[in-house]
Amino acid sequence: MAATVVVGTQWGDEGKGRVVDGLAGSASIVARFNGGDNAGHTVVAEGYTLQLHLVPSGVLYSHLKLLIGAGVVLNPERLISEMDQLNAIGADVGPSRLKISAAAHIILPTHRALDGAREASLGEEAIGTTKRGIGPTYADKAKRVNLRAGEMSDPVEFASRVTERVADHNRRLAQFDVQPLSVDETARTYRRYAERLAPHLVDGSALIGEALEAGASVLCEGAQGLLLDLDHGTYPFVTSSSTIAGGATTGLGFGPKQISRVVGVVKAYTTRVGQGPFPTELLDETGDRIREVGNEFGTTTGRPRRCGWLDLPIVRYAARVNGLDELALTKLDVLSGLENLKVAVAYARDGAQVDHFPAEFGAESLAHWEPVYEDLPGWEADISDVRRRADLPKAARDYVALVEGWSGVPITFIGVGPRREQAVV
Ligand code: GDP
Ligand code: IMO
Ligand code: MG
Repeated sequence: MAATVVVGTQWGDEGKGRVVDGLAGSASIVARFNGGDNAGHTVVAEGYTLQLHLVPSGVLYSHLKLLIGAGVVLNPERLISEMDQLNAIGADVGPSRLKISAAAHIILPTHRALDGAREASLGEEAIGTTKRGIGPTYADKAKRVNLRAGEMSDPVEFASRVTERVADHNRRLAQFDVQPLSVDETARTYRRYAERLAPHLVDGSALIGEALEAGASVLCEGAQGLLLDLDHGTYPFVTSSSTIAGGATTGLGFGPKQISRVVGVVKAYTTRVGQGPFPTELLDETGDRIREVGNEFGTTTGRPRRCGWLDLPIVRYAARVNGLDELALTKLDVLSGLENLKVAVAYARDGAQVDHFPAEFGAESLAHWEPVYEDLPGWEADISDVRRRADLPKAARDYVALVEGWSGVPITFIGVGPRREQAVV
Protein backbone atom coordinates (compact mmCIF):
# COMPACT_ATOMS: atom_id res chain seq x y z
CA MET A 1 0.00 0.00 0.00
CA ALA A 2 1.10 3.56 -0.48
CA ALA A 3 -0.21 7.11 -0.50
CA THR A 4 -3.42 8.24 -2.15
CA VAL A 5 -3.84 11.97 -2.69
CA VAL A 6 -7.22 13.69 -3.03
CA VAL A 7 -7.17 17.20 -4.52
CA GLY A 8 -9.65 19.77 -5.74
CA THR A 9 -9.52 20.43 -9.49
CA GLN A 10 -11.38 23.76 -9.58
CA TRP A 11 -11.65 26.68 -7.10
CA GLY A 12 -12.32 24.61 -4.00
CA ASP A 13 -15.53 23.19 -2.48
CA GLU A 14 -15.64 20.37 -5.02
CA GLY A 15 -16.65 17.88 -2.33
CA LYS A 16 -13.20 16.75 -1.18
CA GLY A 17 -14.48 16.08 2.34
CA ARG A 18 -17.11 13.59 1.19
CA VAL A 19 -14.71 11.90 -1.25
CA VAL A 20 -12.05 11.55 1.49
CA ASP A 21 -14.72 10.11 3.79
CA GLY A 22 -15.62 7.66 1.02
CA LEU A 23 -12.01 6.48 0.68
CA ALA A 24 -11.02 6.60 4.35
CA GLY A 25 -12.43 3.18 5.25
CA SER A 26 -9.35 1.44 3.85
CA ALA A 27 -6.75 3.98 5.06
CA SER A 28 -4.70 3.89 8.24
CA ILE A 29 -3.87 7.61 8.33
CA VAL A 30 -5.75 10.57 6.87
CA ALA A 31 -3.57 13.68 6.69
CA ARG A 32 -4.24 17.31 5.79
CA PHE A 33 -1.23 18.73 3.96
CA ASN A 34 -2.01 22.38 3.16
CA GLY A 35 -4.12 25.38 4.03
CA GLY A 36 -5.79 26.00 7.35
CA ASP A 37 -9.27 26.84 8.56
CA ASN A 38 -9.97 28.66 5.30
CA ALA A 39 -11.03 25.15 4.26
CA GLY A 40 -14.48 23.83 5.06
CA HIS A 41 -14.94 20.14 4.28
CA THR A 42 -18.37 18.56 4.68
CA VAL A 43 -19.00 14.94 5.59
CA VAL A 44 -22.59 13.69 5.78
CA ALA A 45 -22.63 10.19 7.22
CA GLU A 46 -23.77 8.11 10.19
CA GLY A 47 -26.48 10.65 10.92
CA TYR A 48 -24.04 13.56 11.25
CA THR A 49 -23.28 16.57 9.07
CA LEU A 50 -19.73 17.55 9.93
CA GLN A 51 -18.19 20.78 8.70
CA LEU A 52 -14.51 20.26 9.24
CA HIS A 53 -11.98 23.06 8.97
CA LEU A 54 -8.85 21.42 10.34
CA VAL A 55 -9.58 17.89 11.53
CA PRO A 56 -9.09 15.49 8.59
CA SER A 57 -12.24 14.12 6.98
CA GLY A 58 -11.53 10.53 8.04
CA VAL A 59 -12.64 11.36 11.60
CA LEU A 60 -15.73 9.11 11.59
CA TYR A 61 -13.59 5.97 11.13
CA SER A 62 -12.29 5.16 14.59
CA HIS A 63 -9.58 2.74 13.35
CA LEU A 64 -7.39 5.37 11.71
CA LYS A 65 -5.04 8.14 12.80
CA LEU A 66 -5.54 11.76 11.83
CA LEU A 67 -2.63 14.07 11.05
CA ILE A 68 -2.44 17.83 10.62
CA GLY A 69 0.71 18.03 8.52
CA ALA A 70 3.67 20.39 8.33
CA GLY A 71 2.23 22.28 5.37
CA VAL A 72 -0.84 23.37 7.35
CA VAL A 73 -1.29 26.73 9.08
CA LEU A 74 -3.03 26.07 12.37
CA ASN A 75 -5.52 28.23 14.20
CA PRO A 76 -5.41 26.62 17.68
CA GLU A 77 -8.66 28.21 18.81
CA ARG A 78 -10.52 26.77 15.84
CA LEU A 79 -8.92 23.36 16.25
CA ILE A 80 -9.87 23.18 19.93
CA SER A 81 -13.47 24.16 19.25
CA GLU A 82 -13.65 21.58 16.47
CA MET A 83 -12.21 18.94 18.81
CA ASP A 84 -14.79 19.85 21.46
CA GLN A 85 -17.62 19.51 18.95
CA LEU A 86 -16.31 16.15 17.77
CA ASN A 87 -15.84 14.96 21.35
CA ALA A 88 -19.46 15.84 22.02
CA ILE A 89 -20.64 13.38 19.36
CA GLY A 90 -18.29 10.69 20.64
CA ALA A 91 -15.64 10.94 17.90
CA ASP A 92 -12.19 10.26 19.35
CA VAL A 93 -9.87 13.21 18.80
CA GLY A 94 -7.58 12.43 21.74
CA PRO A 95 -3.79 12.70 21.51
CA SER A 96 -3.31 9.03 20.67
CA ARG A 97 -5.34 9.53 17.52
CA LEU A 98 -5.25 13.16 16.38
CA LYS A 99 -1.67 14.24 15.69
CA ILE A 100 -0.23 17.66 14.89
CA SER A 101 3.05 17.90 13.04
CA ALA A 102 5.56 19.93 15.06
CA ALA A 103 6.45 21.70 11.81
CA ALA A 104 2.94 23.07 11.18
CA HIS A 105 2.71 26.85 11.51
CA ILE A 106 0.67 28.77 14.06
CA ILE A 107 -1.90 31.43 13.17
CA LEU A 108 -2.16 34.33 15.62
CA PRO A 109 -5.16 36.66 15.98
CA THR A 110 -2.96 39.43 14.62
CA HIS A 111 -2.48 37.40 11.42
CA ARG A 112 -6.25 37.50 11.03
CA ALA A 113 -6.32 41.22 11.76
CA LEU A 114 -3.58 41.81 9.18
CA ASP A 115 -5.51 39.73 6.62
CA GLY A 116 -8.64 41.84 7.22
CA ALA A 117 -6.73 45.13 7.20
CA ARG A 118 -4.99 44.35 3.94
CA GLU A 119 -8.23 43.27 2.29
CA ALA A 120 -9.95 46.47 3.45
CA SER A 121 -7.07 48.57 2.13
CA LEU A 122 -7.38 46.93 -1.30
CA GLY A 123 -11.00 48.07 -1.72
CA GLU A 124 -12.27 46.96 -5.14
CA GLU A 125 -9.06 45.06 -5.77
CA ALA A 126 -9.50 42.83 -2.72
CA ILE A 127 -8.92 39.09 -3.16
CA GLY A 128 -11.96 38.16 -1.10
CA THR A 129 -10.00 36.02 1.32
CA THR A 130 -11.63 34.12 4.15
CA LYS A 131 -9.90 36.54 6.58
CA ARG A 132 -8.57 33.61 8.55
CA GLY A 133 -5.03 34.98 8.50
CA ILE A 134 -3.85 32.41 5.97
CA GLY A 135 -1.81 34.72 3.71
CA PRO A 136 -0.06 36.64 6.53
CA THR A 137 0.84 33.38 8.30
CA TYR A 138 2.37 31.78 5.20
CA ALA A 139 4.15 35.11 4.55
CA ASP A 140 5.69 35.00 8.04
CA LYS A 141 6.64 31.38 7.43
CA ALA A 142 8.43 32.35 4.21
CA LYS A 143 10.11 35.20 6.08
CA ARG A 144 11.28 32.62 8.63
CA VAL A 145 9.85 34.45 11.62
CA ASN A 146 6.70 32.46 12.38
CA LEU A 147 5.89 30.24 15.35
CA ARG A 148 5.69 26.53 14.70
CA ALA A 149 3.43 24.06 16.46
CA GLY A 150 6.41 22.24 18.01
CA GLU A 151 7.11 25.30 20.15
CA MET A 152 3.90 24.54 22.06
CA SER A 153 5.78 21.77 23.85
CA ASP A 154 7.12 24.49 26.18
CA PRO A 155 4.00 26.61 26.84
CA VAL A 156 5.83 29.27 28.86
CA GLU A 157 8.51 29.89 26.25
CA PHE A 158 5.81 29.67 23.56
CA ALA A 159 3.84 32.44 25.29
CA SER A 160 6.88 34.65 25.35
CA ARG A 161 7.45 34.11 21.62
CA VAL A 162 3.76 34.95 21.04
CA THR A 163 4.39 38.24 22.86
CA GLU A 164 7.21 39.11 20.46
CA ARG A 165 5.26 38.22 17.36
CA VAL A 166 2.07 40.03 18.40
CA ALA A 167 4.07 43.16 19.24
CA ASP A 168 5.64 43.04 15.78
CA HIS A 169 2.24 42.54 14.13
CA ASN A 170 0.79 45.43 16.14
CA ARG A 171 3.38 47.73 14.59
CA ARG A 172 2.28 46.58 11.15
CA LEU A 173 -1.40 46.97 12.05
CA ALA A 174 -0.70 50.58 13.05
CA GLN A 175 0.30 51.25 9.45
CA PHE A 176 -3.27 50.28 8.49
CA ASP A 177 -4.67 52.44 11.32
CA VAL A 178 -5.92 49.31 13.06
CA GLN A 179 -5.98 49.17 16.88
CA PRO A 180 -3.34 46.88 18.41
CA LEU A 181 -4.39 43.58 19.99
CA SER A 182 -3.55 42.94 23.62
CA VAL A 183 -0.12 41.34 23.77
CA ASP A 184 -0.50 39.94 27.30
CA GLU A 185 -3.97 38.56 26.81
CA THR A 186 -2.99 36.86 23.54
CA ALA A 187 0.09 35.36 25.18
CA ARG A 188 -2.00 34.04 28.09
CA THR A 189 -4.60 32.55 25.74
CA TYR A 190 -1.96 30.92 23.56
CA ARG A 191 -0.26 29.46 26.60
CA ARG A 192 -3.55 27.72 27.42
CA TYR A 193 -3.86 26.48 23.82
CA ALA A 194 -0.30 25.13 24.01
CA GLU A 195 -1.04 23.26 27.24
CA ARG A 196 -4.07 21.67 25.60
CA LEU A 197 -2.45 20.81 22.24
CA ALA A 198 1.11 19.84 23.24
CA PRO A 199 0.21 16.16 23.82
CA HIS A 200 -0.85 15.95 20.15
CA LEU A 201 2.55 17.00 18.74
CA VAL A 202 4.41 14.51 16.63
CA ASP A 203 7.11 14.27 13.97
CA GLY A 204 4.60 14.09 11.12
CA SER A 205 7.05 13.03 8.45
CA ALA A 206 8.25 10.15 10.65
CA LEU A 207 4.67 9.08 11.35
CA ILE A 208 3.87 8.92 7.62
CA GLY A 209 7.22 7.30 6.83
CA GLU A 210 6.69 4.51 9.36
CA ALA A 211 3.17 3.87 8.09
CA LEU A 212 4.36 3.63 4.48
CA GLU A 213 7.26 1.39 5.51
CA ALA A 214 4.82 -0.94 7.26
CA GLY A 215 2.74 -1.18 4.08
CA ALA A 216 -0.15 0.86 5.47
CA SER A 217 -2.25 3.14 3.31
CA VAL A 218 -1.99 6.90 3.79
CA LEU A 219 -4.75 9.17 2.51
CA CYS A 220 -3.65 12.76 1.87
CA GLU A 221 -6.46 15.32 1.98
CA GLY A 222 -5.95 18.46 -0.06
CA ALA A 223 -7.67 21.74 0.73
CA GLN A 224 -8.80 24.35 -1.80
CA GLY A 225 -8.25 23.46 -5.47
CA LEU A 226 -5.89 23.79 -8.42
CA LEU A 227 -6.96 27.29 -9.44
CA LEU A 228 -6.34 28.57 -5.91
CA ASP A 229 -2.82 27.12 -5.92
CA LEU A 230 -0.13 29.70 -5.16
CA ASP A 231 1.99 28.66 -8.16
CA HIS A 232 -0.49 27.31 -10.68
CA GLY A 233 -3.76 29.09 -9.86
CA THR A 234 -5.28 32.32 -11.12
CA TYR A 235 -2.65 34.49 -9.41
CA PRO A 236 -3.03 36.81 -7.53
CA PHE A 237 -6.56 35.55 -6.76
CA VAL A 238 -5.27 32.44 -5.06
CA THR A 239 -4.57 31.14 -1.58
CA SER A 240 -1.03 31.03 -0.19
CA SER A 241 -0.29 27.31 -0.22
CA SER A 242 0.35 24.42 -2.55
CA THR A 243 -3.04 22.85 -3.22
CA ILE A 244 -1.92 20.32 -5.84
CA ALA A 245 -0.85 16.69 -5.50
CA GLY A 246 2.81 17.68 -5.24
CA GLY A 247 1.86 19.70 -2.17
CA ALA A 248 1.17 16.43 -0.36
CA THR A 249 4.83 15.42 -0.47
CA THR A 250 6.15 18.83 0.62
CA GLY A 251 3.33 19.36 3.12
CA LEU A 252 3.72 15.95 4.75
CA GLY A 253 7.35 15.08 4.17
CA PHE A 254 7.50 11.89 2.10
CA GLY A 255 8.83 11.06 -1.35
CA PRO A 256 6.80 11.51 -4.55
CA LYS A 257 7.38 7.89 -5.60
CA GLN A 258 5.26 6.78 -2.65
CA ILE A 259 2.14 8.22 -4.27
CA SER A 260 0.31 5.41 -6.04
CA ARG A 261 -3.00 7.10 -6.70
CA VAL A 262 -4.12 10.68 -7.32
CA VAL A 263 -7.85 11.42 -7.25
CA GLY A 264 -9.11 14.76 -8.54
CA VAL A 265 -12.47 15.93 -7.25
CA VAL A 266 -14.53 17.81 -9.83
CA LYS A 267 -17.94 19.33 -9.30
CA ALA A 268 -20.36 18.71 -12.18
CA TYR A 269 -20.43 22.50 -12.64
CA THR A 270 -18.04 25.18 -11.42
CA THR A 271 -18.12 27.44 -8.36
CA ARG A 272 -15.84 30.07 -6.92
CA VAL A 273 -15.92 32.11 -3.69
CA GLY A 274 -14.11 35.42 -3.61
CA GLN A 275 -12.81 37.61 -6.41
CA GLY A 276 -10.90 36.74 -9.56
CA PRO A 277 -11.54 35.45 -13.06
CA PHE A 278 -14.24 32.85 -13.66
CA PRO A 279 -14.77 32.50 -17.43
CA THR A 280 -17.82 30.18 -17.33
CA GLU A 281 -19.62 32.14 -14.58
CA LEU A 282 -23.41 32.40 -14.97
CA LEU A 283 -24.78 35.76 -13.86
CA ASP A 284 -28.34 34.78 -14.72
CA GLU A 285 -31.25 32.68 -13.49
CA THR A 286 -29.46 29.44 -14.29
CA GLY A 287 -26.60 30.49 -12.02
CA ASP A 288 -29.09 31.38 -9.28
CA ARG A 289 -30.84 28.07 -9.68
CA ILE A 290 -27.61 26.08 -9.41
CA ARG A 291 -26.70 28.07 -6.26
CA GLU A 292 -30.06 27.30 -4.72
CA VAL A 293 -30.34 23.63 -5.65
CA GLY A 294 -26.66 22.98 -4.95
CA ASN A 295 -26.80 24.98 -1.70
CA GLU A 296 -23.73 26.88 -2.86
CA PHE A 297 -23.00 28.97 0.19
CA GLY A 298 -19.55 28.92 1.77
CA THR A 299 -18.93 26.32 4.48
CA THR A 300 -16.40 28.65 6.13
CA THR A 301 -17.75 32.15 5.56
CA GLY A 302 -21.38 31.60 4.48
CA ARG A 303 -20.76 33.74 1.38
CA PRO A 304 -22.84 32.87 -1.71
CA ARG A 305 -20.62 31.00 -4.16
CA ARG A 306 -20.40 32.21 -7.75
CA CYS A 307 -21.74 29.45 -10.03
CA GLY A 308 -21.14 28.57 -13.66
CA TRP A 309 -20.86 25.80 -16.25
CA LEU A 310 -18.33 23.01 -16.08
CA ASP A 311 -15.02 24.02 -17.64
CA LEU A 312 -13.24 21.03 -19.16
CA PRO A 313 -9.99 22.82 -20.07
CA ILE A 314 -9.69 23.37 -16.29
CA VAL A 315 -10.17 19.66 -15.65
CA ARG A 316 -7.56 18.85 -18.31
CA TYR A 317 -5.21 21.33 -16.69
CA ALA A 318 -5.84 19.63 -13.34
CA ALA A 319 -5.08 16.24 -14.91
CA ARG A 320 -1.71 17.56 -16.10
CA VAL A 321 -0.60 19.44 -13.00
CA ASN A 322 -1.67 16.72 -10.57
CA GLY A 323 -1.06 13.64 -12.70
CA LEU A 324 -4.62 12.49 -12.02
CA ASP A 325 -5.36 8.78 -12.14
CA GLU A 326 -9.05 9.16 -11.42
CA LEU A 327 -11.78 11.74 -11.18
CA ALA A 328 -14.52 11.86 -8.55
CA LEU A 329 -17.44 13.76 -10.10
CA THR A 330 -19.67 15.31 -7.45
CA LYS A 331 -23.07 16.99 -7.38
CA LEU A 332 -24.30 15.54 -10.66
CA ASP A 333 -27.76 15.48 -9.05
CA VAL A 334 -27.78 19.29 -8.87
CA LEU A 335 -27.97 19.51 -12.67
CA SER A 336 -31.17 17.40 -12.83
CA GLY A 337 -34.09 19.35 -14.25
CA LEU A 338 -32.07 21.78 -16.35
CA GLU A 339 -33.33 21.49 -19.90
CA ASN A 340 -30.10 22.47 -21.64
CA LEU A 341 -26.57 22.23 -20.38
CA LYS A 342 -23.36 23.82 -21.57
CA VAL A 343 -19.83 22.66 -21.02
CA ALA A 344 -16.73 24.65 -21.94
CA VAL A 345 -14.44 22.48 -24.07
CA ALA A 346 -11.89 25.02 -25.37
CA TYR A 347 -10.81 28.67 -25.22
CA ALA A 348 -10.69 31.24 -28.01
CA ARG A 349 -8.84 34.52 -28.46
CA ASP A 350 -8.67 36.67 -31.59
CA GLY A 351 -10.11 33.86 -33.68
CA ALA A 352 -7.59 31.29 -32.46
CA GLN A 353 -8.70 28.33 -30.39
CA VAL A 354 -6.76 26.34 -27.79
CA ASP A 355 -7.93 23.33 -25.84
CA HIS A 356 -5.97 24.10 -22.66
CA PHE A 357 -6.84 26.49 -19.84
CA PRO A 358 -4.73 29.61 -20.48
CA ALA A 359 -3.74 30.22 -16.86
CA GLU A 360 0.04 30.60 -16.90
CA PHE A 361 0.04 34.30 -17.63
CA GLY A 362 -2.19 35.09 -14.65
CA ALA A 363 -5.62 36.47 -13.96
CA GLU A 364 -5.27 39.52 -16.18
CA SER A 365 -4.40 37.66 -19.37
CA LEU A 366 -7.22 35.19 -18.76
CA ALA A 367 -9.69 38.05 -19.27
CA HIS A 368 -8.80 38.09 -23.00
CA TRP A 369 -9.96 34.52 -23.53
CA GLU A 370 -13.53 33.35 -24.16
CA PRO A 371 -14.73 29.84 -23.36
CA VAL A 372 -16.00 27.78 -26.30
CA TYR A 373 -19.07 25.74 -25.33
CA GLU A 374 -20.59 22.47 -26.34
CA ASP A 375 -24.38 22.24 -25.85
CA LEU A 376 -25.85 19.16 -24.29
CA PRO A 377 -29.38 18.04 -23.48
CA GLY A 378 -30.25 17.90 -19.78
CA TRP A 379 -32.25 15.24 -17.93
CA GLU A 380 -35.43 15.51 -15.89
CA ALA A 381 -35.23 12.56 -13.52
CA ASP A 382 -34.14 12.80 -9.91
CA ILE A 383 -30.94 10.69 -9.81
CA SER A 384 -30.27 10.83 -6.08
CA ASP A 385 -31.23 7.17 -5.59
CA VAL A 386 -29.19 5.87 -8.52
CA ARG A 387 -26.27 3.62 -7.47
CA ARG A 388 -25.16 2.17 -10.82
CA ARG A 389 -23.83 4.13 -13.74
CA ALA A 390 -26.00 2.16 -16.15
CA ASP A 391 -29.10 3.35 -14.28
CA LEU A 392 -28.41 7.05 -14.90
CA PRO A 393 -30.58 8.71 -17.58
CA LYS A 394 -28.90 8.60 -20.99
CA ALA A 395 -28.20 12.36 -21.00
CA ALA A 396 -26.46 12.07 -17.61
CA ARG A 397 -24.39 9.11 -18.83
CA ASP A 398 -23.42 11.14 -21.89
CA TYR A 399 -22.41 14.06 -19.64
CA VAL A 400 -20.17 11.76 -17.59
CA ALA A 401 -18.69 10.26 -20.76
CA LEU A 402 -17.99 13.73 -22.14
CA VAL A 403 -16.03 14.66 -19.00
CA GLU A 404 -14.03 11.44 -19.26
CA GLY A 405 -13.45 11.91 -22.97
CA TRP A 406 -12.22 15.49 -22.74
CA SER A 407 -10.18 15.06 -19.59
CA GLY A 408 -8.72 11.67 -20.52
CA VAL A 409 -9.24 10.56 -16.91
CA PRO A 410 -11.65 7.80 -15.84
CA ILE A 411 -14.44 8.75 -13.44
CA THR A 412 -14.50 6.22 -10.61
CA PHE A 413 -16.98 7.97 -8.32
CA ILE A 414 -20.13 9.95 -9.07
CA GLY A 415 -21.84 11.91 -6.30
CA VAL A 416 -25.63 12.01 -6.60
CA GLY A 417 -26.33 13.52 -3.18
CA PRO A 418 -24.40 14.71 -0.12
CA ARG A 419 -24.79 11.57 2.00
CA ARG A 420 -22.04 8.95 2.11
CA GLU A 421 -24.17 6.32 0.39
CA GLN A 422 -25.43 8.69 -2.34
CA ALA A 423 -22.78 7.75 -4.85
CA VAL A 424 -22.15 5.63 -7.92
CA VAL A 425 -18.82 3.95 -7.18
P1 GDP B 1 -14.94 20.59 0.01
O1 GDP B 1 -14.44 21.88 0.56
O2 GDP B 1 -14.30 20.25 -1.28
O3 GDP B 1 -14.86 19.45 0.99
O4 GDP B 1 -16.49 20.81 -0.29
P2 GDP B 1 -17.56 21.55 0.67
O5 GDP B 1 -17.90 20.65 1.79
O6 GDP B 1 -17.11 22.93 1.00
O7 GDP B 1 -18.75 21.74 -0.34
C1 GDP B 1 -19.37 20.66 -0.95
C2 GDP B 1 -20.87 20.68 -0.59
O8 GDP B 1 -21.57 19.83 -1.46
C3 GDP B 1 -21.16 20.15 0.81
O9 GDP B 1 -22.28 20.82 1.31
C4 GDP B 1 -21.47 18.69 0.57
O10 GDP B 1 -22.31 18.12 1.56
C5 GDP B 1 -22.17 18.76 -0.75
N1 GDP B 1 -22.01 17.59 -1.62
C6 GDP B 1 -20.90 16.84 -1.83
N2 GDP B 1 -21.13 15.91 -2.79
C7 GDP B 1 -22.40 16.10 -3.20
C8 GDP B 1 -23.23 15.48 -4.20
O11 GDP B 1 -22.81 14.58 -4.92
N3 GDP B 1 -24.49 15.98 -4.34
C9 GDP B 1 -24.97 16.99 -3.58
N4 GDP B 1 -26.21 17.42 -3.81
N5 GDP B 1 -24.24 17.59 -2.63
C10 GDP B 1 -22.97 17.16 -2.46
P1 IMO C 1 -11.96 24.19 0.62
O1 IMO C 1 -10.83 23.36 1.15
C1 IMO C 1 -13.18 27.70 -1.66
C2 IMO C 1 -10.53 31.18 -1.45
C3 IMO C 1 -11.07 32.43 -0.81
C4 IMO C 1 -10.32 33.48 -1.62
C5 IMO C 1 -8.96 32.84 -1.84
C6 IMO C 1 -7.89 33.29 -0.84
O2 IMO C 1 -13.17 24.17 1.47
O3 IMO C 1 -12.22 23.85 -0.81
P2 IMO C 1 -7.49 32.73 1.74
O4 IMO C 1 -8.35 32.95 2.93
O5 IMO C 1 -7.12 31.30 1.52
O6 IMO C 1 -6.30 33.64 1.71
O7 IMO C 1 -8.41 33.19 0.49
O8 IMO C 1 -9.16 31.45 -1.69
N1 IMO C 1 -10.60 29.96 -0.62
C7 IMO C 1 -11.47 28.96 -0.82
N2 IMO C 1 -12.50 28.86 -1.69
N3 IMO C 1 -12.87 26.66 -0.85
C8 IMO C 1 -11.84 26.75 0.01
O9 IMO C 1 -11.42 25.70 0.74
C9 IMO C 1 -11.11 27.95 0.08
N4 IMO C 1 -10.06 28.38 0.82
C10 IMO C 1 -9.75 29.61 0.36
O10 IMO C 1 -12.46 32.53 -0.94
O11 IMO C 1 -10.92 33.62 -2.89
MG1 MG D 1 -15.16 23.72 1.26
